[in-house]
Amino acid sequence: MRERVLVTGGMGFIGSNFVRYMLRNHPETEIIVLDKLTYAGNPANLADLEDMFDFVRGDVADSSVVDPLVERCDSIVHFAAETHVDRSIAHAGDFVKTDIYGTFTLLEAARKYGVDRFVHISTDEVYGEAVDHPSLETDELAPKSPYAASKAGADRLVFSYFATYGIPAVISRCANNYGPYQYPEKLIPLFVTNALEGKKLPVYGHGRNIRDWIHVEDHCSAIDAMLQSDGYNGETFNVSANEEKNVLEIADIILKTLGLSDELIEHVADRPGHVMRHAVDATKLQNTYDWKPSHDFENSMRRTIKWYANNPEWWRPIRSGEFRRYYEKQYTRM
Ligand code: NAD
Ligand code: DAU
Repeated sequence: MRERVLVTGGMGFIGSNFVRYMLRNHPETEIIVLDKLTYAGNPANLADLEDMFDFVRGDVADSSVVDPLVERCDSIVHFAAETHVDRSIAHAGDFVKTDIYGTFTLLEAARKYGVDRFVHISTDEVYGEAVDHPSLETDELAPKSPYAASKAGADRLVFSYFATYGIPAVISRCANNYGPYQYPEKLIPLFVTNALEGKKLPVYGHGRNIRDWIHVEDHCSAIDAMLQSDGYNGETFNVSANEEKNVLEIADIILKTLGLSDELIEHVADRPGHVMRHAVDATKLQNTYDWKPSHDFENSMRRTIKWYANNPEWWRPIRSGEFRRYYEKQYTRM
């Protein structure tokens, strides 16, 4: 059992779902969240649980904030990152700063103060195209966007701190997550909230690009398995529920669930460097940790769509602020 866990990026989509998961499944563990509250960080994600964990607002790339927190904790789960591929294509600087330098800052603190476990949240984007098979942990890294390349840099930096300094790190490379509290710039919450407002669903290019979808709680249970275990230091684990779907299939499920017509679909200019297929093979994770996903895709997608439909007070304030300026810039160029 981990006594005190530092969760970076805990106010974002996966981080907040992970804090929820930990408070439910390990109520004895003390959780400290470090989050800068960028546009993507939202205290409303955990407002109902705010008395149950400590929150520090700060930058993971700032050692004066990070060092005392790492000194207090026995383990780290590192989510904090700039995460949106389209934003990285427009402005890569923050991705390099947070995703690479932020990870470096945390690793240096772990080296200085010592930790029992460092779970690094990487991504399947580091592989680039999954051409003829779902990517394996042993495949080469060929990231295609500045986001993916920054994450690949961080991923290998973590490995180097294991190999050089013995930091007890494990690395998760998960497929596309879906579920509640996802910032509505990402495909599923964007399409659901656009549809709920009677707006078009902007499909990049032909829309046959494939992603491998997993419910966020299944990613959380995989991270928890890595966090609680000792050993496997330096190892990387793909995380997937084996649910490959293209963008048009996702749009179709959303429109059918909401009882809306496919006339809302609009093909727009493609994303530069758009990866045709991301998919990963999670056999190693399953065999090592006896882990398996527990969410069935069709039902969990429908529940997720309904969650957004039933919680407009969560997404309406987001869509009226920074998001609107971003949306106009991103989608009027098309
Ligand atoms: P998100 O954008 O919803 O949340 C990111 C969080 O990090 C936000 O709360 C933000 O405020 C915080 N943050 C950003 N910069 C920071 C900084 N400099 N210092 C401290 N906090 C900072 O992202 P997400 O989708 O929850 O992704 C979390 C992690 O999981 C990321 O590392 C991402 O690369 C990885 N990942 C995401 C997916 C996915 O499908 N969403 C899949 C695989 C891996
Ligand atoms: O694979 C894991 C990655 O998944 C994570 O590491 C990233 O943080 C996360 O953002 C996600 O990256 P993607 O680029 O796959 O996610 P996104 O939701 O941006 O896009 C999913 C697919 O939908 C992709 O093929 C592009 C397409 N798309 C997306 C948007 C936002 C559209 O067709 N139209 C859109 O408006």
